[in-house]
Order: sequence, then structure tokens, then C-alpha cells
Amino acid sequence: MLHSVGIVGTGSYVPEKVLTNADLEKMVDTNDEWIVSRTGIKERHIADPETPVSELCYQAALKALEDAKVAPEDVDLIIIPTVTADYLFPSTAGLVADRLGAKNAAAFDLSAGCTGFLYGITTGAQFVSTGMYRTVLVIGAETLSKILNWEDRSTCVLFGDGAGAAVLQPVEEGYGFLGFELGADGSGGHLLTCLGGGSKNPASIESVQNKLHTIRMAGSEVFKFAVRIMGDASFKVLEKAGLKKEDIDLFIPHQANLRIIDSAVKRLGIDPEKVVVNLDRYGNTSSASIPLALDEASRGGRLKYGDNLLMVGFGAGLAWGATVLRWAKR
Ligand code: UT7
Repeated sequence: MLHSVGIVGTGSYVPEKVLTNADLEKMVDTNDEWIVSRTGIKERHIADPETPVSELCYQAALKALEDAKVAPEDVDLIIIPTVTADYLFPSTAGLVADRLGAKNAAAFDLSAGCTGFLYGITTGAQFVSTGMYRTVLVIGAETLSKILNWEDRSTCVLFGDGAGAAVLQPVEEGYGFLGFELGADGSGGHLLTCLGGGSKNPASIESVQNKLHTIRMAGSEVFKFAVRIMGDASFKVLEKAGLKKEDIDLFIPHQANLRIIDSAVKRLGIDPEKVVVNLDRYGNTSSASIPLALDEASRGGRLKYGDNLLMVGFGAGLAWGATVLRWAKR
């Protein structure tokens, strides 16, 4: 790193409407016992039909900028990792920049599935590290409810909507990001997909009738991949950062399934007290899951200046990512 880069502010937002497991029991052939024991999820937040993902981004961004004490016009770059952008184009990042009044910001969206936030902060940190930009706003946000097949019990019970934002800036030496690990294995891309609306299957009456614009997932295959990669990526990034698992003060894993989190925690040998879990209240919010948990941890006083934080995620692609940072916010 040329300059040390850290997270200097966070914010998050979820839509008001809550969908419980009991609500889902009335929609598909499922039950609270199955969902809780197989996933750990009890409820999730769902956006109204008229609320696009840019609205969630905007609300989360306002809070993150306020937390970082940064004015919108001082933001140099906005990156929005999402798989549920408002449109194919223009980018959601451009729309959010305009709404925030971030007149001096470059803006783009990023597609890396549930690993999006980790790809986003890794990308943003490079711009700050080189000195090209001073302030980068990364907003992981999803309205997955809009691309779910509400008749498919194997997917519709898992996901939720939300947004989490982080402001990146230079921090004092020895603090901020200590290591990054990113990866992708496209040979597993078919395991988690939304195939309609792109150039391969443009929107058509048939594509809609065949529900190509909804999420499909080979759950148990993704599960096996997740269990392996959470541990592998974490060990790799710790090595890059020159840290041991004992040095970790807080662990924020992607919130997809409590059994995946538990197995990663066991393999890493991290004290369960140091693990942030909130998927019981939000479900899997894809690229919003880690920043949402990060914001709750920061505002809840679970992160102190100098703490070592490990974040790790995985998802569509199949992609994965991990990062370690020393908390630089007082
Ligand atoms: O963010 C990254 C993306 N996603 C993930 O990380 C998800 C990774 N995968 C998982 O979390 C798990 O694989 C699931 C939670 C999706 C599924 O759990 P599982 O233990 O792998 O269950 P399964 O898919 O093997 O299904 C077991 C049974 C099946 O019935 P049979 O064939 O054994 O009779 C399913 O039909 O559970 C049935 N089932 C359900 N039952 C009640 C599947 N979904 C439901 C449901 N309610 N919602």
C-alpha cells in the first residue's frame, strides 16, 4: 500500500416491511422449524413494489457520510456492488451520486454477487492507496425480493432486501486494510444464477413465462463450496496480513446460512463471541449483508480503535473474498 486506507464511516438501511417465516408458511409449502433449523433465518425485510434499490442506497449513504463527517461534494468515487440495479443502465451509482449531490464523484456499479461488497471495498481502497482519490463511498445494496420466484420454496425463504455503506479514506500508517484476498471460479457459475434480461436471454414473453428473471440455486452445491472457501480465504488473508487467528477481535462473515457461519468459525478456531450474526433478522441480503453487519457492529460499540477485523464472503460467480483491517475510527 502506498497510503494506508481505512473505513472512516458506515451506514445502513432496510425497508420497513418485515416478512416472517409465519408469513412464508402461507405462501409456499414451508415451515418456521425448517427455515430456522436449516438456515437460522427468522425474518427478512422486503421493499415495496415501487421502491428501487437506489432508494436503499441513498438512505444508507446519507448515514455513512454523516458518520464519516464527509460532505457529498467531497466524495471522489461511488461504487455500488449489486445484482439488483435499478436498470441495466444507467448505473445505479450514477443515480445515487445525483440524488446525494455528489457532483464531483465518478460512479459505477460492480457485479460480484454476494461477494460484491468485498470486491467493492478492495477496488475502492486501491484508488485511495495510490492517491488518485481521497474519498470513496462503497454501497452494497440489494432488492432481491424483486428477482425471487415466490413459488420456489428452496430460494424464496432465504433472501432479503437492504443496503450497507462504507466511506474509505486515508488513515494513519499501520491502520486500515492489512490484506485482501479475492477469487472467482466461473466453472461453478451455473450453480447460482439469474439468466434472463441480459444479452444471452433478452427479455421476451418466453423468458418471463419460464421465470428466467428469477434466482435459481443449487443450494447444497453452493453450501459445500461456501464451507470450504470461507476457511481457505480467511487463512490466506490472515497470512497476507501477517496475523494469526488469535489476533482477530471481530469476525464478520457473509450472512447466508448459520450452519455455514458455524462451520467457518469452528474451522478458524475463532471465539463465537467475536462473530457478528444478524441473518436471523435480515436473511441473506447478498452484497448488503457484510456492510449491514459492519454498521451494526460499529454503531453497537463492538469495534474499538485498533481492533483487527476479518470479513469474508462468497457467492454467485462463484466468487469469494476476504479482507483484514485494523479499525482506525475513534
Ligand atoms: O449467498 C450465497 C448464496 N446462497 C447460499 O449460501 C446458500 C447455500 N445453501 C444453503 O444455505 C442450503 O443448501 C439451503 C438452506 C439452501 C438448503 O439446505 P439443505 O440442508 O442443503 O437442504 P436441501 O436443499 O438438501 O433440501 C433438503 C430438503 C428437500 O426435501 P427432500 O428432497 O429431502 O424431500 C427440500 O425439498 O428440504 C426441502 N426443502 C424445504 N422444506 C421446507 C427445501 N426448501 C424447503 C423449505 N421448506 N423452504
